[in-house]
Amino acid sequence: MATIFFFLTLFTLTCTTLSTSLYLSPKTTFSNYNKMLQSFKIFIYPPSTSTLFTTPQETHFYKSLLHSPFITQDPSQAHLFFLPFPSSISSRNLARLIRNTRINFPFWNRTLGADHFYLSSSGVDSSSDRNIVELKKNSIQISCFPMSSGLFIPHKDVTLPPIHTFQVNPPSTNNTKTFLGYMKLTETEIITDHGKLIEEINNHPDFKVDQNGKLNIKNSRFCLFVYGSDMTWMVEAMASQCVPVVITDRPIQDLPLMDVIDWSEIAVFVGSKSGVKGLKRVLDGIGENEYEKMIESGVVAAQHLGWNAEAHAHDAFHMIIYQLWLRRHTIRYARWVEQ
Ligand SMILES: *[C@@H]1O[C@H](CO)[C@@H](O)[C@H](O)[C@H]1NC(C)=O
Ligand SMILES: *[C@@H]1O[C@H](CO)[C@@H](O)[C@H](O)[C@H]1NC(C)=O
Repeated sequence: MATIFFFLTLFTLTCTTLSTSLYLSPKTTFSNYNKMLQSFKIFIYPPSTSTLFTTPQETHFYKSLLHSPFITQDPSQAHLFFLPFPSSISSRNLARLIRNTRINFPFWNRTLGADHFYLSSSGVDSSSDRNIVELKKNSIQISCFPMSSGLFIPHKDVTLPPIHTFQVNPPSTNNTKTFLGYMKLTETEIITDHGKLIEEINNHPDFKVDQNGKLNIKNSRFCLFVYGSDMTWMVEAMASQCVPVVITDRPIQDLPLMDVIDWSEIAVFVGSKSGVKGLKRVLDGIGENEYEKMIESGVVAAQHLGWNAEAHAHDAFHMIIYQLWLRRHTIRYARWVEQ
């Protein structure tokens, strides 16, 4: 698949203009990011096979990592160790891979895998094998958002934002937006959850539901997504100044950059239970100042969530690396040597 990437040339990221509330730790995020650029080192184990990853975001992350300055050939310099294996690997082969890593290299035993990370598009399944249990419990898993499978451990795991091509048009001078909310549904997409709510939205004059976005994204105050369905264009919505609304009846733990940015500053999360009336009440309750702030923060967040053909500062690749950097502190057990 030939992937094309978007370039956000319209906006230049300057730390001074950022709305600091977007970041969970606004005081430390940028100095820590700079420290990462200077010192972060990752050791990659020799890959087990040549064809590795199936989704474009995994492939692109891996390629960007290989071309990045974060790689070291010297494991004694490494903060983290990357264990590459195909997402389609069988449990048996995965167990064998970890066992071999444990025997042939001294690094796994020091932390039982806690300073290791791996890519797996939909997550590694539970297993009774000791090797896989250690990988799953201790190592950092990078998978693809959204992770509807539940194979995700919030305090350590990370998700990759989807890769999605779009062009950012100049912000329109026309501030009037025709619709309160817009929902893009593709013909092939059958949403089993929330079918009743979607029907209500479809029949409500303030909302627009159709298949093809562009103009409607720009002409709507809010862009509606059902969690777990096609969310690939969420970043496009933010960049196009349409505030994302995520419809979900349970807390979402796997949002990309969840421990770096404050998602409540850029998106609205609503349940489905009170129907289109409840949805409208929530959206109408957002004041104009708050709305403008969400638009601004969303435009900045879109740069952190967007991929570039060549990695840019503060883009999705660098922000995933930053999440790994935040997870580098692990205790390494000294080997007990008998005298
Ligand atoms: C790591 O520990 C296991 C025992 O759990 C041992 O069999 C293995 O040889 C150790 N690896 C190294 C490289 O010392
Ligand atoms: C501009 O505003 C008008 C309403 O005044 C609306 O009908 C039109 O679709 C808007 N156009 C764009 C491109 O936003």
